[in-house]
Amino acid sequence: MGNGMKTEKKNLVLIGFMGSGKTTLGLKLSYRLKMPVEDTDKLIERREKKSIRQIFDGEGEGYFRACETALLRELAQKQTNPKIYSVGGGTPLSPDNRPLLRQLGTVVWLRVQPDTVYGRLKGDTGRPLLQCEDPLGRIRELTEQRREAYAACADITVDVDGKSTEEILRQILDALGITEESAPSIGGEVSF
Ligand code: S3P
Repeated sequence: MGNGMKTEKKNLVLIGFMGSGKTTLGLKLSYRLKMPVEDTDKLIERREKKSIRQIFDGEGEGYFRACETALLRELAQKQTNPKIYSVGGGTPLSPDNRPLLRQLGTVVWLRVQPDTVYGRLKGDTGRPLLQCEDPLGRIRELTEQRREAYAACADITVDVDGKSTEEILRQILDALGITEESAPSIGGEVSF
């Protein structure tokens, strides 16, 4: 296979809590593997012509979750050149979504501790679920509630706390069986 991956599934799917680094790692992997990256939140925002915050405020979380499932269903059926997908932190929660995520590609869980998330997202206004009196408490509660759903989807789990992006990237590539020699170097053609 062109990008040195030993896995049979061609796409990579990044899952993990808000602030786990899915977007950053998606971009890094994209450059490293010469694979385009797509963010499902951004795809939904583009389709709906609204920000996630506006969708939650206007149509409600249920509507947003239905958009996520519809989009996943579409992506899982589509035959495209290999891509990296980063999906919203709540996507694996729906039992309908879990088989779709696994059908879509090799699922990489960026596992993160609540304190790390809090440090990264303190003051962020784009995550509707964290706009509350006690965001750290909320993060702890949601992390606990979501652990099993993430674990049920993941082919590969990487703990991200206290690691540099480069270290995490290396661990993901190792887990995928991609060696320095087999992976293409940075600078190839990537379309976003
Ligand atoms: C959500 C995570 C967000 C976004 C929405 C809901 C969640 O995506 O989909 O705010 O339920 O965890 P990120 O994980 O990219 O922040």
